[in-house]
Parts: sequence; C-alpha cells; structure tokens
Amino acid sequence: MYDSSTQFDFRDPHAGYSQLAEALGALLTGEHDPIANAANTAALLFAALPEINWAGFYFLRGRELVVGPFQGKPACVRIPLGRGVCGAAAERRATIVVPDVNAFADHIACDGASRSEVVVPLIERHVLRGVLDLDSPRPGRFGEVDARALERIAGIFLGASRFGADH
Ligand code: SME
Repeated sequence: MYDSSTQFDFRDPHAGYSQLAEALGALLTGEHDPIANAANTAALLFAALPEINWAGFYFLRGRELVVGPFQGKPACVRIPLGRGVCGAAAERRATIVVPDVNAFADHIACDGASRSEVVVPLIERHVLRGVLDLDSPRPGRFGEVDARALERIAGIFLGASRFGADH
C-alpha cells in the first residue's frame, strides 16, 4: 500500500532511492494508464527528491518529444529528436547527466533556475516511448547514483504502464 505520509530520507542516496522505488511500486500497482502513472510518478519524484525544480515526462510523438505530466514551471512543449538534452538522450537511447547546463551547447532552457539535469530514456521492449527528465537549481546535483536509480524508477513506470492500450 502506498503511504502518502512517508518521509523520504536522502542523506544516504541509496537508501532514499530504495524507499522511493518501493513507494512508486506501491503507488502504481493496479494502474496501467501511462498518463495516470506518469502524473503520479512526476508528483512523487518532485515531492521526494531534494533540490529539484522540474520533474516530468516527454513522450515520443513521431519524430518529436511532446511534454507529458510534470511538476515544476511550464515547459517547452515540443523537442525534436536529437535536440536539447532530452532529444539527445532519446536519440542515443542512453541516460545523460549534465552537471552544468550552461556547458551543454544544445541545452534548451525551460526554467531559468535550472543548473543541472538528468534525462533517462524510456525504452519498453526496444521501443522508445519518451524520456524522464529532472532539473535542479544546483550545479552537479545528479551523479551516477542518481542516473542508475532513476533508470530503475523509469523501469518501474514502464513495467506498470501499457502504452497504446485504451483504458
Ligand atoms: N532542458 C531540456 C528541456 C526540457 S526542460 O528542462 C523541462 C533539454 O535541453 O532537453
């Protein structure tokens, strides 16, 4: 059962992410709608993770990423594959950690407060569905521990969701 009063403790990031993964699994149990699950995943990440100013999804529509459920300031709606950090992660099908967004030549600024970013591609049985994107106002906020843990989080979201089905 998901418990909305859970306090997440990220003083030990491994422990914090374990707690978060468990809470997400409970939160998504029994629901298969990708939009509903993306909305709750974004809300949980935004509430649980320290030093985050944006957390959310872009979904692949043709050759573009289109913004999905998120928490944070309003964001750019459409990102062509290969553009920005999101488009690069989607095209490469690899997680990208950007410690300093000002040093990433093709970074697309949505919230001027963002200083670092991590983008995880959403790949379901070899099919690219979109990306999970997190921004932080602190430079260097995300590292390898975050990247691997957020890939696991993305896997929990994908495992629970049925794309292309009518719910
Ligand atoms: N910075 C991203 C765009 C999305 S926002 O951060 C929400 C990028 O360069 O792709």
